[in-house]
Amino acid sequence: MSDKVGSRLSVFLTGGTGFVGRHVARRLAEHGHQLRALVRNPTAASSLTELGAELFEGDVTRDEELDEALAGCDVVVHLVGIIRERPPRQTFENVHTRGTQRLVEAARRADIGKFILMSALGAKTDGTAYQRTKYEAEEVVRRSGIAYVIFRPSVIVGPDGEFMQLLLRVIRGLPLIPVIGDGRYRLQPVDVTDLAEAFAQAVERSNLKDESFEVGGPHKLTYNRLLEIICEELGLSRRLIHVSPRLVRPLVDLASNWRLPTPISSDELTMMFEESIIPGEGNVLREVFGLEPTPFRSVLQRLAG
Ligand SMILES: NC(=O)c1ccc[n+]([C@@H]2O[C@H](COP(=O)([O-])OP(=O)(O)OC[C@H]3O[C@@H](n4cnc5c(N)ncnc54)[C@H](OP(=O)(O)O)[C@@H]3O)[C@@H](O)[C@H]2O)c1
Repeated sequence: MSDKVGSRLSVFLTGGTGFVGRHVARRLAEHGHQLRALVRNPTAASSLTELGAELFEGDVTRDEELDEALAGCDVVVHLVGIIRERPPRQTFENVHTRGTQRLVEAARRADIGKFILMSALGAKTDGTAYQRTKYEAEEVVRRSGIAYVIFRPSVIVGPDGEFMQLLLRVIRGLPLIPVIGDGRYRLQPVDVTDLAEAFAQAVERSNLKDESFEVGGPHKLTYNRLLEIICEELGLSRRLIHVSPRLVRPLVDLASNWRLPTPISSDELTMMFEESIIPGEGNVLREVFGLEPTPFRSVLQRLAG
């Protein structure tokens, strides 16, 4: 594998139809790489075919023959992940842990040179099922014997992302914005286009191997501040109404036991209060990838653009 930007690599991409995947696919194509994408529904993958990607129909929770799909590829970029389970098949265990295991085994057989995994900030053995299975996926990759790069981002933002779309809908639609708890828990939103560039560099640079990177944007923002910034940018005046988690949690737990749709799951509620920030002042986007991390406000301004 070369560390010269511009050398054309064959990249096997999973999760390419998702929010982050669309940006990563576009950036990889802009860097001149050939894409081969694992997709569940090829008819809904026009964003990938437009980039000249070759599609392979498949699902990481199924024991599919991935060998043919991976043959001749140089690098795997594995982005598949879920935030809500849809049993019996779409469980955290099946998608994150076993799905990564399947792909790693196939990658080993295909002699893949580098495996790039999308994990999440806060992945750990004693966390929520999401965090635990993300950590298990990391361990599968670390033990694979394949050179790897693991990304552990805080919340990823872009005008087309679900997180931002949801906040925009609430702020535009309601005069009072409900906030669970005191809203002082912090996030470090990272711009999806910065992250996509970091993925492209991880694909290309041979000096980036066997590394795990915690990735965040330039600012650690409380949830309250984040909402205020959106209101300022939209030119809207809104009051934040803080709702006790003691009221919300039983309702969310009840709804999830009955498999009813809720705007937030029990696990998401737990993770929200843990904060999603990187200790210290450093920023790997700047120090490792040579990028100037985009402030949250500038991501919002792209929306207006
Ligand atoms: N968004 C964030 O703020 C954030 C923060 C930290 C980490 N992450 C991680 O980043 C990754 C991408 O997140 P995202 O926001 O882009 O999610 P997303 O928009 O929901 O995309 C998920 C992707 O995974 C694919 N997928 C889901 N289950 C699959 C399966 N069983 N087999 C094959 N493909 C499957 C989806 O394909 P379909 O199109 O067929 O549904 C889609 O392409 C995930 O691993 C997530 O945990 C996200």
